[in-house]
Amino acid sequence: MPIVGHVGYTEWAYGLAKNLLAAELPRRWAHTQGVAEQADSLTGVLGADTDTLIAACLLHDIGYAPDLIDTGMHQLDGARFLRDVAGADDRLCRLVAYHSCADNEARQRDLFDVLADEFDQERPDLARALTYCDMTTGPDGRHVDVRDRLAEIHSRYGPDHVVSRSIADATPCIVASVRSVQAALSDVRQADAG
Ligand SMILES: [Fe+2]
Repeated sequence: MPIVGHVGYTEWAYGLAKNLLAAELPRRWAHTQGVAEQADSLTGVLGADTDTLIAACLLHDIGYAPDLIDTGMHQLDGARFLRDVAGADDRLCRLVAYHSCADNEARQRDLFDVLADEFDQERPDLARALTYCDMTTGPDGRHVDVRDRLAEIHSRYGPDHVVSRSIADATPCIVASVRSVQAALSDVRQADAG
């Protein structure tokens, strides 16, 4: 179980993700760090929940680590590792399990019942915030428009891949999540300026 506290919690997540990704999947690690930077920019929207979001961002893609691959659905494999091996708290497991509208990929892989049996959904605003952070960060960690991010995923995997089909199904959910977080950010900025 991670040490709860501002530095301890996110440092625990950082160390775990770095161990799993940095050496074997350096580009995925660069992406992960960019995603966590986006979370840091949402403090004005999320307040005390920002640490949970940063930790979820750091851990969201650990299911790509070769040792963790089981079903091949990285969201589910990552969440199971967090629950069964790392002893992470339920919120983190739920956020990782469903990140970036993963219920669509679960359906494409015929794993939706498994996912829904094992993990509940997390609070919608936090889930949308994680989707925003992931889907506005490219594979190298740079921040991009959501439409460019979606196009890059399609071109990387090709039209017939299960990930491309899943992302096509998930696009309305992803774009709505990003737009809703952008609207919340703009409200906070206007209130700060006023
Ligand atoms: Fe990601």
